[in-house]
Amino acid sequence: MPWNRKHLLDLESLSKAEIVEILDTAASFKEVSGRSVKKVPALRGKVVVNLFFEDSTRTSNSFSLAAKRLSADVMSFSSKGSSVSKGETLIDTAKNIEAMGVDAFVIRHYAPGAPHLLARHTDCSVVNAGDGSHEHPTQGLLDIFTIREKLGKVEGKTVAILGDIRHSRVARSNAHGLRKLGARVILAGPPTLVPPAIGKALGVEVSHDIDAVVEQADALNCLRIQFERKAGRFFPGVREYAAIYGLDDERMKRAKPEAIIMHPGPINRGIELTPELADGKRSVILQQVSNGLAVRMAVLYLCLGARGN
Ligand code: CP
Repeated sequence: MPWNRKHLLDLESLSKAEIVEILDTAASFKEVSGRSVKKVPALRGKVVVNLFFEDSTRTSNSFSLAAKRLSADVMSFSSKGSSVSKGETLIDTAKNIEAMGVDAFVIRHYAPGAPHLLARHTDCSVVNAGDGSHEHPTQGLLDIFTIREKLGKVEGKTVAILGDIRHSRVARSNAHGLRKLGARVILAGPPTLVPPAIGKALGVEVSHDIDAVVEQADALNCLRIQFERKAGRFFPGVREYAAIYGLDDERMKRAKPEAIIMHPGPINRGIELTPELADGKRSVILQQVSNGLAVRMAVLYLCLGARGN
């Protein structure tokens, strides 16, 4: 069935067909970025608002540029310097911005479920740009897009997600999306950051043996240790973490020849992986960022009903 949703709130509730439709739409938008005039009129007259209550480099800029490439007008709201400091609620903030005549909110919030709450209180489309430790659906989609592009397909591939799974919305979105597309998913890292219950809840495997996981993986997606969420309390020190759970050249000698290295960013260089690997031949980290633009164009295009027009 073709896409008929107004919002993108998570990957858990999407079907395989809906995920594939976003990926295929993104593939067609990738061509736009290669043109001399990098713009299409699909969302002309629409207004997209970036509503960010947490810091971001990649996601906020990528959504802004995606909306501009579709010819939408873009407003950027950051809670820093706004009337949130005077006690204004999320819903009041959104309703006041909506009253200016906008069509879509792209929201990043520290509270899990904030995009779902917003979707119940607005007539606009709502796109989740990361809600607490819950989901980051467009990051999951751009990761899956990159795996499909680099490995030719997702079904049957083994994708290892390494690191701070406990606090990671990226891990959750990846696990839901990859599983629906038929990949084998292994969550790996220290037991304190990768408790078996998370694997059970997501229906994927868990391992604490990084060397064994590196040998099996077609894609190794390294996740940032979220020090701002106190993840540093879950292991003795960064040197021990890097030695036992980080990726380096020595450990990568065990990997399949074609295995790719991914990271959603921002990277803690020398902790999750060495700078040499982050910038090396196996790394597709910057290609993930480029693909994110096409994926976000596809999501805005589909959620705002532009295809129907
Ligand atoms: N991957 C990601 O979400 O990065 P930002 O926090 O910079 O948006």
